[in-house]
Amino acid sequence: MIKKKIGEGKFSEVYLIQEDNGKQFVQKEFKSGFIHEARREYLFLNAIDDANVVKAISFNEEEKLNLRLEFIDGIGLDKFQESNLKKIHSIITKLSFSVAKIHSLGICLNDLKPANIILRNDEPVILDLGLSTLNLYNDKYFRGTVSYAAPEKILRKTNHEASDVFAIGMILLKMLNGKIPADDHNVSEYLEIIKNQKKWNDCLVNFTEDSFLKQMLAFDASERPSALQIAKYFSDLYNFNIGNINEFVVSNHIFNTHFEAIEQLWRKKILNYEAYDEIDKILQLTSLKNS
Ligand SMILES: Nc1ncnc2c1ncn2[C@@H]1O[C@H](COP(=O)(O)OP(=O)(O)O)[C@@H](O)[C@H]1O
Ligand SMILES: [Mg+2]
Repeated sequence: MIKKKIGEGKFSEVYLIQEDNGKQFVQKEFKSGFIHEARREYLFLNAIDDANVVKAISFNEEEKLNLRLEFIDGIGLDKFQESNLKKIHSIITKLSFSVAKIHSLGICLNDLKPANIILRNDEPVILDLGLSTLNLYNDKYFRGTVSYAAPEKILRKTNHEASDVFAIGMILLKMLNGKIPADDHNVSEYLEIIKNQKKWNDCLVNFTEDSFLKQMLAFDASERPSALQIAKYFSDLYNFNIGNINEFVVSNHIFNTHFEAIEQLWRKKILNYEAYDEIDKILQLTSLKNS
């Protein structure tokens, strides 16, 4: 057996293991105290069936807490450079389509960023669901990475699909520009900007003139497109074939799973409003609205 370290994150050290029979897999060894993250990651990965999301093999807590995963042989998006606009948009289209499928299960990723995506044969594969939650889950704990996090996440620790969309926008900006607003500032300076609508808009115009990208990075979550709309926008633009999108089924499913999730959270008193409230009040109370 050969064991080689291939990565490290906030919660874990990641090893590639090759057994004597040649079989390869990845072992994500969690630092102590992260059993909930590990278990949640395993459960969510099992719920998702998408070629562009890493597959979980097993979850083990007997010896050292670890998760066994399929090995994604490719290059981290954080180390990848591409100047061809169509190729960049193709990656964003595939990424958005996978994110849309994850959202349709009522799951939001919360920590989408280049270091959590590997490009394998030009396909972006999503890793690291360690900070994922059900959509709208709010326990006042910040889940994410500041430089890719939407304003509502920073301001109110919101876990929402619209914040994943903001992160996709930031990933696109990074691929187009080589840098993003957070790269130009220290953390406290950047926090002042991202927490303030006018400062954020003034900052963003220095980075892009693309109106669709600006919409993905809108300060107000309700102005952003959905992940599915992003995939559709670029696939229409280039005639990409991304498979069959049955928009009605997806949106209807989103609606139902959200509703169930909201009801569950409400029963547990994690949300403090009636599940049957009008949509505007729900946006307000789930802290997606900025006023
Ligand atoms: N299945 C995998 N195949 C290949 N590399 C991986 C895999 N899982 C993780 N990695 C590498 O390890 C790094 C850390 O893994 P990640 O799941 O993001 O851990 P953390 O939750 O601690 O951030 C990733 O950025 C990636 O480079
Ligand atoms: Mg990570």
